Amino acid sequence: AILYLVEEAISAGVEEIIFIISPKKESVKKMFTRDPDFEKHLIDSGHLDYAKIIEDISKLAKFTFVYQNEQKGLGHAVYQAKDAVGNNPFLLLLGDDLVYNWNGDSPSLQLAKAFEKTNKSILGVQEVPLELTYKYGIMDPKNKDGRLMELNGMIEKPKSNPPSRYAVIGRYVLTPDIFKNLENQEPGANGEIQITDSIKKLDKYYAYDLDATYYDIGSKLGFVKAIIDFSLSRNDIGEDVKKYLRNK
Ligand code: G1P
Repeated sequence: AILYLVEEAISAGVEEIIFIISPKKESVKKMFTRDPDFEKHLIDSGHLDYAKIIEDISKLAKFTFVYQNEQKGLGHAVYQAKDAVGNNPFLLLLGDDLVYNWNGDSPSLQLAKAFEKTNKSILGVQEVPLELTYKYGIMDPKNKDGRLMELNGMIEKPKSNPPSRYAVIGRYVLTPDIFKNLENQEPGANGEIQITDSIKKLDKYYAYDLDATYYDIGSKLGFVKAIIDFSLSRNDIGEDVKKYLRNK
């Protein structure tokens, strides 16, 4: 799933990817870092193809790793990347949201193109079922021009009366002034430092209704749906997966 996110960011022209991880998740760093001993072992045992995959992944972009030592919320996690990001607008992709456009621009590219017009922070959104709005940052739209929305505001995890069904689905372009807001951000919903609350303090921000399929891979059903769709789409096992599902 992380590799799909990395490929999505690269499709939008990103050249450096900063991972914000827990010190316990060194496996993420390992995946994007070359391992000469392991590669030699693969080559010696005849698995040149696997060795090549490892090499290719490490060359996809410049990878930087920063650590979030305490889990104080998404806003707190993003703040850890302040120095690594510097004074640049940046894409933010949440690892438990897989958003994939099966034919056309990736979600990140759609946001990057919209940002070229607005030069303001933009949240990638999609309508979710009313009964799931409590899990998301929910938009209060003012007007919609094509897929771009001006907003009156937004609410993180509304308990009742959501202002719409447009939910942030883990894709953002943010301007670096977000870090000033995050620095002094008080905890919000669930007692966590929420990125939504800091975005709300920016002078202007937009939402963009993404053209893509959204898989909430932090939920069991969303994860299974992603496994099914992505395995069906593969050249190597797609046909066999289809046969297996038919038999079931
Ligand atoms: C985070 C954001 C929320 C967004 C959601 C998308 O919540 O705070 O605004 O809608 O991701 O998955 P979390 O899922 O971390 O609780």
